[in-house]
Amino acid sequence: MPTVLGKNIEVLFPAEAIARRNLELASEIAAHRFQGLLVVSVLKGSFIFAADLIRAMHGAGLAPEIEFILVSSYGAGTTSGDVKILRDIDAPVAGRDVLLIDDILESGKTLKFTRELILSRGAKSVHIAVLLDKRGRRQIALEADFVGFDCPDRFVVGYGMDAGHYFRELPFVGVIEEDGG
Ligand code: IMP
Ligand code: MG
Repeated sequence: MPTVLGKNIEVLFPAEAIARRNLELASEIAAHRFQGLLVVSVLKGSFIFAADLIRAMHGAGLAPEIEFILVSSYGAGTTSGDVKILRDIDAPVAGRDVLLIDDILESGKTLKFTRELILSRGAKSVHIAVLLDKRGRRQIALEADFVGFDCPDRFVVGYGMDAGHYFRELPFVGVIEEDGG
């Protein structure tokens, strides 16, 4: 079991499985035949997933415009709060097909807020791709169009996702083991 910062990390989704799934997701996305696709990576947690997925999308023949939005629904802890825009996108979205990429769909608050923001600016369509779907934690009716994996109801780290701004560098998704276990 990998140890990082003195913590044992139980691997839930290995790097190889994520890489394989990204290729499948890219094919699913390409099959939609979006026009003038604008990809918006929802920072910070999606940065590694977005980096890998958009390269897989290149392999599937897509050449999207790429943007970033920084929203925050969590502090340094693990409880969900209000959604705030900390850094907005620059590109106009009116009339565009937009694909939001995020790490996890949990309560649904972050992506519902972001989706409605982009739609209110006149986007033609807004689709959602997430690496992980914690269906059991949904508070708002919202489904992603492209889902990497269903995620158990556990707090996960790695592959961009953090606990208190650490563990984002892990090439896999895992769970931090309790101390003294
Ligand atoms: P939602 O607004 O509750 O859907 O929260 C989604 C956001 O919360 C994700 O984009 C993540 O940044 C964060 N999040 C939710 N669950 C986890 C987790 O298990 N580990 C790390 N971040 C998480
Ligand atoms: Mg996030």
